[in-house]
Amino acid sequence: MKARVLGSAAGGGFPQWNCNAALSRAVRQGRPGLLARTQSSIATSADGKSWAVFNASPDIRSQIAANTVLQPDPDGEPRQTPIAAVVLTNADVDHIAGLLSLRERQPFTLYATARVLETLEANSIFRVLDPAIVVRRELPLGGTTELAGPDGLLGMKVETFPVPGKIALFLEDTGKKGFGSESGDTIGVAIRPSATNGAGGKTLLYVPGCARISDDLSQRIRDASCLMFDGTVFEDDEMRLAGVGEKTGARMGHMSISGASGSLNALRGVAVGRRIYVHINTTNPILEPGSAAECAVRQAGWEIGYDGMEIEL
Ligand code: MLT
Ligand code: MN
Repeated sequence: MKARVLGSAAGGGFPQWNCNAALSRAVRQGRPGLLARTQSSIATSADGKSWAVFNASPDIRSQIAANTVLQPDPDGEPRQTPIAAVVLTNADVDHIAGLLSLRERQPFTLYATARVLETLEANSIFRVLDPAIVVRRELPLGGTTELAGPDGLLGMKVETFPVPGKIALFLEDTGKKGFGSESGDTIGVAIRPSATNGAGGKTLLYVPGCARISDDLSQRIRDASCLMFDGTVFEDDEMRLAGVGEKTGARMGHMSISGASGSLNALRGVAVGRRIYVHINTTNPILEPGSAAECAVRQAGWEIGYDGMEIEL
């Protein structure tokens, strides 16, 4: 199975359009070592021909342009795509807005939890993807689903599991506990080739949003071949420190990388083949090679995801 990081940044990308903090300025000015990044998405394929895209980011058009494997076969039909399925891990803008770019009456299968499907249903603009053409399939919480596109099975299966997190920003109800978040608003997925048995073997765990590493999650991560994990913020209050906003990582449903309860610490003793941060916010100092944060992360065995990163499982 192949996997590719299409976009390694969090919502807004790197640099975010109106962010004028040091890192965003530096990448805009082309400082060597800093890589611009598009918004949160990965793609996987069992045969290198048909692909499943996990999260449809607002940058999907440029992500397809940057990845030939996702482009129509130059010798193929007048309308076609290697993208056979799209799987959503939540209803955040950075994960669903790209669906609007996938119109043009192109069949593919759209997978999401009941909660996320409800959001798509409630926002009529998503009817640009005619449900008769783009079939919507519910992902059960805690179950395994064989991915299928319009031409049949993709040779990959996806196990879904709820992770501690938050409802999408635009759905928050400030009058409710947890802003109205429920199980199924944010999920993690374990992606495996269909032929793999059991939980071990070739497993890519993709968890771009996570508020806390629960025991259940830690068990799932153990012995996976590769983990792609929420790397939104290094310090919980780094947006405030950078002067760009008051929100903490915790308030956004993202655990920090550093700190006693951060992901570096929580996963230090958990064996996993490769560990890669994705969904990296424009303020995160790990984006700067040589920074103390970047060194700390690398010393703990983490890789820092970048657009176009390829993984073979
Ligand atoms: C998040 O990951 O917290 C969201 O993408 C934030 C947003 O809506 O930009
Ligand atoms: Mn996001």
